[in-house]
Amino acid sequence: MKKSVFLLLVFVTAVFRSYADEGMWLPQLLGQQVYNDMVKKGLKLSKEQLYSVNKNSLKDAIIIFGGGCTGEIVSPEGLIFTNHHCGYDAIAGASTVDHNFLRDGFYARNKGEEIKTGLSVQFLLRIEDVTREVMTALGSLSGKERADKQTEVLATINKRMSNAAASIETRVSALFKGNQYLAFVYERYNDIRLVGTPPEAVGKFGGDTDNWEWPRHTGDFSIFRVYANKQNKPAAYDPANIPLKPKWFLPISLKGVKEGDFTMIWGYPGGTNRYESSYGIKLATDVNNPTLVALRDVRLKYMFEQMKKDPAIKLKLASSYAGIANYWKFFDGETKQLLKYDVYGQKKTAEDRFNTWAKGKPEYQHIFADWAKAYDDWRPYAKARVYLNEGIMGSPLIGFAASLIPLRNALASGDTKEVIAKIAAGASEARGEFLKEEDKPSDQNILAAVTQLFYENVDKNQQPEAFYNDLQAKYGSLSEAASYKKYAADIFAQSMVFDDAKWKTFISNPDLAVLDADPAFAQAVAFIRNYQQGAGPKYQEFTAKNTDYGRLYLKGVMAMDPAKARMMYPDATFTMRVSYGQVKAYKPRDAVFYDYVTTSKGILEKYKPGDYEYDLPAKQIELLKKKDFGRYMDPVRKDLVIDFISSNDITGGNSGSPVINGRGELLGLAFDGNYEALSHKMAFDKDLNRTINVDIRYVLWCIDKLGGATNIINELKLVK
Ligand code: ARG
Repeated sequence: MKKSVFLLLVFVTAVFRSYADEGMWLPQLLGQQVYNDMVKKGLKLSKEQLYSVNKNSLKDAIIIFGGGCTGEIVSPEGLIFTNHHCGYDAIAGASTVDHNFLRDGFYARNKGEEIKTGLSVQFLLRIEDVTREVMTALGSLSGKERADKQTEVLATINKRMSNAAASIETRVSALFKGNQYLAFVYERYNDIRLVGTPPEAVGKFGGDTDNWEWPRHTGDFSIFRVYANKQNKPAAYDPANIPLKPKWFLPISLKGVKEGDFTMIWGYPGGTNRYESSYGIKLATDVNNPTLVALRDVRLKYMFEQMKKDPAIKLKLASSYAGIANYWKFFDGETKQLLKYDVYGQKKTAEDRFNTWAKGKPEYQHIFADWAKAYDDWRPYAKARVYLNEGIMGSPLIGFAASLIPLRNALASGDTKEVIAKIAAGASEARGEFLKEEDKPSDQNILAAVTQLFYENVDKNQQPEAFYNDLQAKYGSLSEAASYKKYAADIFAQSMVFDDAKWKTFISNPDLAVLDADPAFAQAVAFIRNYQQGAGPKYQEFTAKNTDYGRLYLKGVMAMDPAKARMMYPDATFTMRVSYGQVKAYKPRDAVFYDYVTTSKGILEKYKPGDYEYDLPAKQIELLKKKDFGRYMDPVRKDLVIDFISSNDITGGNSGSPVINGRGELLGLAFDGNYEALSHKMAFDKDLNRTINVDIRYVLWCIDKLGGATNIINELKLVK
């Protein structure tokens, strides 16, 4: 008996080994085979030390940082490491032209100097399987009915398992495309303070040119701290709060990495779609991605034009610009890689195999015919949807105006004074936030351009006809850019959003007619109504069907190949995952070899004084030229290692994630993926996929040598 179990294990492990780097595993369901494979590759910790329901474990050091990043606790006093690009918005928000922390960097010399932010973080307390409860409620429903029912059941469970007073939040996640449901219970801390950041020239070195690329030389880190009340529990910001005493924190390895070293990355990958259908791939490469990229091109161009002119505008727009640019390049690269590797063809081959198996099986044989039909129905509307979200709503003014629609609904339905006053107060607060980051000249140019592009590129029968007729009557020919420019100038001159006195009068006594007469609001409403009467319902219908067929397909795939099914991991859903791999070089194309680390030499090679993306602080150049690396020098390279790559399977949301060695010590922070594998959301490439990490020794060097913040270094647990 013992022997056969042993044989089986060997067999499964052997099958598994060929695709071991792929996978974003749920830590509490880490199968024995996966765990054994990790041990074989260098993991020294027990399963209990990684994730335990009853005891403190490594998972307690891993947090959701803000709304879409990962962070990790690195000291007994609640210190957080995350990426610079994750802290970016908070850093820009804390900066002024005179105290420009974004440009110059910042390190608190003591806790009193740490800066309040609007951020929160979440700790995962536990995970519960609620599959049976959800499945019972969903029964055999399909389409929109199933989608609606799911929303309802999940909301009920979330509510039942949450406790607002204790800052406990539960979110049920549909895994394996709705074949499994797990409830994730979190505790949210709201008092998060900025502790340190390198200058942007270091934290975003290489800018958008180097973004999503290896070789890289970016010091993409920033430092925050969690504060709690005297009972170590979540509390709103209060100067009297004290640093959190965490359940777990990561020690930091000064040893450095070499090729083949075991690396695991813990964090919150946002979303993948590894079982996307061939139809979905085609719609992405033909329509969705290129449309999004073209519209972002326009927005970025107008924003950058203004940012170059004035440091105050640069500060205002920096965070929003970085976000738009990041996924502009991502989706452009994704299209190129999907086409280059013929992911469409790969999916087709897999689907053909599935269809052969499905023949004669009533639950599965019809999926692909129905799915094709759902795509055919949706495809003609897809462009209009992107034009609304990335075009018209890409004007910050129109985006804000659209957020006033709930106020309109309350006024139109005759809600009580109290309800209306409450919504109005919220709108005033949102206006304040909007104005902080609003740059009128760039927004006005964007509005003119996207209004014209929508007219030129969206099907005539999917346009708000009355809106364009009006525009033509007042401002001239719809084929002239000048007409849209005059139109946009008027909107910006007339909207009450920019007029404090008019806004105050309106919001203290909201009136439907006044709101409707506002030209920015009117445009938002015209385009949203137009969507609700055209593409909107089609989209709902399409996504409900797409979800159904996706769920059935995956269920079928697992039924077709039960041995493989046992080794499957669920798509990323912004829930905690662990991925493991190793430090590894690669060959991006014929005859080209990419080393697995970059060093200070490369920084000096890339350095361009005065450049927008490759400039550096004088002190950094001086220290690097002197080779003043201290104890952070790599003993093999005799240099300061900046970034390194590993074969881990991660995606957006993992930003800031700890790269951890077999002993549970921090080696670096994951901050990017490589260009050659930008198709990774839909297809993992086992030869080319790499995660780009900043070496923790470079992080420490920046804090210590460049920043002089020995107070922070002293708080860490450094291990040799
Ligand atoms: N590509 C990185 C990510 O999504 C973000 C890098 C931010 N840097 C930039 N140049 N925009 O995780």
